[in-house]
Amino acid sequence: MSQMSIAVLTSGGDAPGMNAAVRAVVRAALNKDMRIFGVRRGFNGLLNGDIIEIGIRTVSDIIHRGGTILYTARSPEFKTEEGINKAVKTCQQMGIDGIVVIGGDGSFRGARDLSKKGIACVGIPATIDNDIACSDYTIGFDTAVNTAVEMVDKIRDTNQSHNRCSVIEVMGRDCGELALHTGIACGATAIIVPEVPFDIDKDIIDRMMATQRTGKKHFIVIVAEGVGGSADIAKYIEEKTGIETRHTVLGHVQRGGSPSVHDRVMASRMGAYAVDILARGGSNRVVVSKKNEITDYDISEALEMKREFNDDLYKMAHEISV
Ligand code: F6P
Repeated sequence: MSQMSIAVLTSGGDAPGMNAAVRAVVRAALNKDMRIFGVRRGFNGLLNGDIIEIGIRTVSDIIHRGGTILYTARSPEFKTEEGINKAVKTCQQMGIDGIVVIGGDGSFRGARDLSKKGIACVGIPATIDNDIACSDYTIGFDTAVNTAVEMVDKIRDTNQSHNRCSVIEVMGRDCGELALHTGIACGATAIIVPEVPFDIDKDIIDRMMATQRTGKKHFIVIVAEGVGGSADIAKYIEEKTGIETRHTVLGHVQRGGSPSVHDRVMASRMGAYAVDILARGGSNRVVVSKKNEITDYDISEALEMKREFNDDLYKMAHEISV
């Protein structure tokens, strides 16, 4: 039997732990006597042939590094029929039998389209948003929450000194997971997420006033970016309560930094598992974590799944932040 060749790429927004996943894919592939290639800048690398062969030491000293050594991009050209055909041609020319695609939902659509054209693809969920319906966990989320919590803790110090309120916007696109977990870990007075409709007077102002009556003097309000208008929320709070209010957008700091232990371990498990699937002849699969077990689903089915928001956790967060 001829030697199998596979490639690995990172696509979409970067996430801490992507490097650990690349490392795991490379090492698992080499262990199985496969040839392994790195595709640079996501699917763009498949379009313009920006592909390098990777050796065992190419991935040394990256397990602890944020970002991605393969670079990443969002590739509009790849979404066209012409783009996909070009990518297939590149794979055929280079003898690439399969690809591990590390990224989010958008990247999995690309993986599904390539699989349909005969290039075996396996996805690994990696995004700080934890917004992929099929998997309990996406690589990068734990590190991003820890970064956000560290930042909010610092804001809390100055908040406390000045008896202020801080409205802090966290990332997450249309998903409130980052906001919910940051809010719980920081004991925020209010957490506003896109999944739950909110009334600014009832859900923020009244809560602040009630806690003020029992002696609270400084306040943290976490707003998910998907809600929009966090600056206006801060302005309204100051006008309505007379409490000096500051507005902070945490931004891309949440995307960087050394991955946490959880992200390194998840990335290693998922990376090795993805290569197993390809070695067994699998295609159009996505690696997922379910109740801390690693398993896999058909990508097309996974993309149809609807994400569920944890309403009980959200309710609990507000019950104890009084
Ligand atoms: O998907 C990850 C994420 O950081 C989102 O939380 C955010 O909405 C988006 O990417 C930001 O994208 P960009 O890096 O293109 O500004």
